This record gives sequence, C-alpha cells and structure tokens, in this order.
Amino acid sequence: MILYTIKELIEKGKNAIHEDVIVKGWVKSFRSNRFIALNDGSSLQNIQIVVDFDSMSETELKEITIGSSLKVIGSVVESQGRGQEIEIQAQKTSVYGQANPEEVQETILQPKKHSLEFLREQAHLRFRTNTFGAIMRIRHHAMFAIHDYFNKKGFFYINTPIITGSDAEGAGEMFHVTNFSLENLPKNEANEIDYSQDFFGKKTNLTVSGQLEAEAAAMGLGKVYTFGPTFRAENSNTSRHLAEFWMIEPEVAFNDLDDNMDLAEDFLKSVIAYLFQHCQDDLQFLDERFAQIQKEKPKNERTELGLIERLQYVLKNKFVRLSYTEAIEILKNSKPNKKKKFNYLIEEWGADLQSEHERYLVEKHFNSPVILFDYPAKIKAFYMRLNNDQKTVRAMDVLFPGIGEIIGGSQREERLDVLKQKMTEHNIDEKELWWYLDTRRFGSVPHSGFGLGLERLILFVTGMGNIRDVIPFPRYPKNAEF
Ligand code: 4AD
Ligand code: MG
Repeated sequence: MILYTIKELIEKGKNAIHEDVIVKGWVKSFRSNRFIALNDGSSLQNIQIVVDFDSMSETELKEITIGSSLKVIGSVVESQGRGQEIEIQAQKTSVYGQANPEEVQETILQPKKHSLEFLREQAHLRFRTNTFGAIMRIRHHAMFAIHDYFNKKGFFYINTPIITGSDAEGAGEMFHVTNFSLENLPKNEANEIDYSQDFFGKKTNLTVSGQLEAEAAAMGLGKVYTFGPTFRAENSNTSRHLAEFWMIEPEVAFNDLDDNMDLAEDFLKSVIAYLFQHCQDDLQFLDERFAQIQKEKPKNERTELGLIERLQYVLKNKFVRLSYTEAIEILKNSKPNKKKKFNYLIEEWGADLQSEHERYLVEKHFNSPVILFDYPAKIKAFYMRLNNDQKTVRAMDVLFPGIGEIIGGSQREERLDVLKQKMTEHNIDEKELWWYLDTRRFGSVPHSGFGLGLERLILFVTGMGNIRDVIPFPRYPKNAEF
C-alpha cells in the first residue's frame, strides 16, 4: 500500500483506480456523515473520501469534524459525484487529532468567507485556507525559480551577514543589535553609551541590505547574488512595507546600467514564466479571486486586465525605459498634477517620486512596467555612480502595475576619489567603510546590481492587496505576534 500526497493522487487520476492507498490530511468539510473533503496542503485540491460508516462506531464518526486530522486507508474508485475524477472508498479511517466543533466556530477554519484581517490574527491557522495555501505554494516556487535562474546563469549564491556594522542605504532605519542590559547601559566619560563594551565591541544592527558585502564578493567571484531576510525600522504602515522582508540582490562585475536593466527584466520575466508552468491551479484560483474582488470595486478603480492577463502582459512586452528627467516632464504635465489630485504635487526637477507618481506612469500613462533611470544624486544612496552631468546618478527603479517600485538598483561608483567625495557629502565616515573603499583600491571595475523585494513580487503575482498577506508571519509596526 502506498502513501500518496493528495497532489500525487489527483495527478495520477483514473490511473490510480483499484489501487489501495493511504492518505493523510485535514478535514475541510464532512457532508451527510459520508463524504469527507480532505486536504493535505500539497495542492489546492481536496480528495473526496467516502466513509464506510458501517465499519465505524458512533464515537469514531463523531470525531470526524472540520479541522480534524486523519489517516485514511482505502481503495481508489471512479467518483460517482461531479467535480472529481476519483475518490477514496475508505476501509479504515483513524483520527490523529480531533478539532472541537464549537471551538472551530471561533476560528478561520470555519468554512465561510473571512476577512484578510481576521486571517492575519490567526496567522498560525491560515496555512489551511485555500487563499493562503495558494500564496505560500507560489512563494515557494518563486524562491526556487529565483535560485534556479541565477544558478543557470552562473551566479554564486552568497550569504551576507544579518548582523552588520554598516548601513548600506544610509537611511538610518535600523534595528539595533546588542546584548547590553537596556536597564543598565554602560556609559563613557562623556556620558554616552559605551559601545566598546557591547558584544561586538561596536554599534551593530540588523542588515537593511546585503549589497555592500555582495559588491566585495562580486569583486572576486564575478557574478553573485544574495537572498536573505532584510530588516527596516521605517515606521511606514503601508500595504507595501514590512519591517522584515526577503530581498534578492544580484551584483555583477563589469555590468553597466544597461546590462543591469537587461538582467532585471529577463530575471523578472523568467521567474513569472516559471510560475506559469508550475503553479497553474493556484494561479487560476487566485485569478478568479482577483476577478471577484474587481467586481466588488467601483468601476473607476477596477483594473483593466485580470490577474493572469496582467502576468501574460508583463511577459510579452518590453518594459518601457525612461529617464527620471523625462518622467518629471510627463508628471508635471499630467492631469492629476494639474488638477492637484496628487498628494505630493510635482513642481520641479529633483522631487522624490512617491508611489502615486510611479503608479500613474505605469498604470495610466504607459500601461506597462517601466524602468526609470538616472535619478538626481540628492535623492539616492551614496554608492550610485555619478553621471558626467554631475547631478544625476546611474540609478534604476523597476515599477510594476499595482505595486509601484518592485526593484531598486544602480551601477555602482567604482572610482575611489568620486566615491570618497560622495561619502563626505552623505556624512558617511570613511573609517567605517574602509573595507568597501578597499574594493575600489585593488582592481576596481565597473559593476552593477539591484534588489528585488520578494514580497513585492509575490504581491504582484498573486494579486493580493496587502504585503502582510504574502509572508507567513508578517512583522510591522506594533506587531510581532507568533
Ligand atoms: O530600493 P531598496 O532600498 O534598494 C536597496 O536596498 C539596494 N541596496 C538594492 C541593491 O541595489 N542591491 O530596496 C530594494 C527593494 C525595493 O525595490 C522593494 O522591492 C523592496 O526591496 N523593499 C521592501 N519590501 C518590503 N518592505 C519594505 N519595507 C521594503 N523596502 C524595500
Ligand atoms: Mg528603492
């Protein structure tokens, strides 16, 4: 007798008829004391179990309730009912863990429509729901596709530190790491906290990006990427920000900004194409969910394309590439700017772009993913390569419909003197990044890289509206439950 996952069994379909099998899973529903819909997480689909109630005692039958976990031994038969090819005629059904029906009523396991907020409150149970199950399976396949992509292209996966002394983005939105007792902080003579007594002998924090270390690795290994957790203490309570998220950061020696844009576009398209191949059921399910949600929205807020259509559109079309300067002209003359509909009006060159501007360009003006490049140096990080105009840097942001910025990256400043100058302007102490400067001292080369926020990609692919629903246990201001 073979133990099957439900996915395997359903894939086998009619070829499994007459086989005696074992399946294990959780009860999704139980009808007429006879039909169990069993799910084990391996796929969106359930297998129908037909219980042989003659062979079961009253107490045994009573234990089969929504949410309880079962082992079923039985034979596969052609299904008499509609909606499935096969079902299992149970010979022996045993319960691992019973779920009390009254208590289940209070949980999201109760089979009815629950709000996403309610699902989040029971994040430990939401793995059992169709929506979250589909999202988590897609997330897994996306991560696998990302590794697969870089491996095939000859990149090396490197692990950059999670605890670090440097602030790559210079935004200062960091969580500090210390083993000091916060009630009793050691002070120096000037009455400042004496970090020389801390665990690492210096001030440390959780990383906001592995880029600087990845650059060092690329200066020897050529093509590398990081894929790890990233932490930002920015107090932005938005549907696009997490305090803990996963970032993929490729870094390539000898690549200029055009190569970098080519890589970003090819990479995103390859991962999406992989998901089309490997997550059909889950994408189909989310596509229907997306359509339903669009229907409930006022007409002017609906998206033109369905979820799958939108993914196909991204796959088929070349991303628009546009300089920041051109974008500002478009935005300045746009309807929402002239009618003062933007929250932040675009008045002059140099303005930082908000997500409303990014989405206007992508969703209204071009109707396509857009790569913006050559941003003003003033609004970008110190490590980006200065252009000859002395006022813009070789930055690029990839903007996606419904999301805004999905990737941020740049060609890096490889000239030691210019880099030092930029650090002075950004108030960054050369002593702290001595090792980063060293990479420009010993065989410096032009190089480029970018960062993709995994959850932003999953948001786009699943059509979900809130980033908190595409990571198992989200971390955001005032929430670190679970
Ligand atoms: O644009 P960011 O800040 O760029 C960097 O960190 C560079 N060091 C990357 C590089 O060039 N190697 O972040 C990169 C991406 C963003 O485009 C976004 O997708 C995601 O990371 N991101 C977040 N995702 C979720 N929550 C947050 N708080 C995020 N902040 C950035
Ligand atoms: Mg950015």
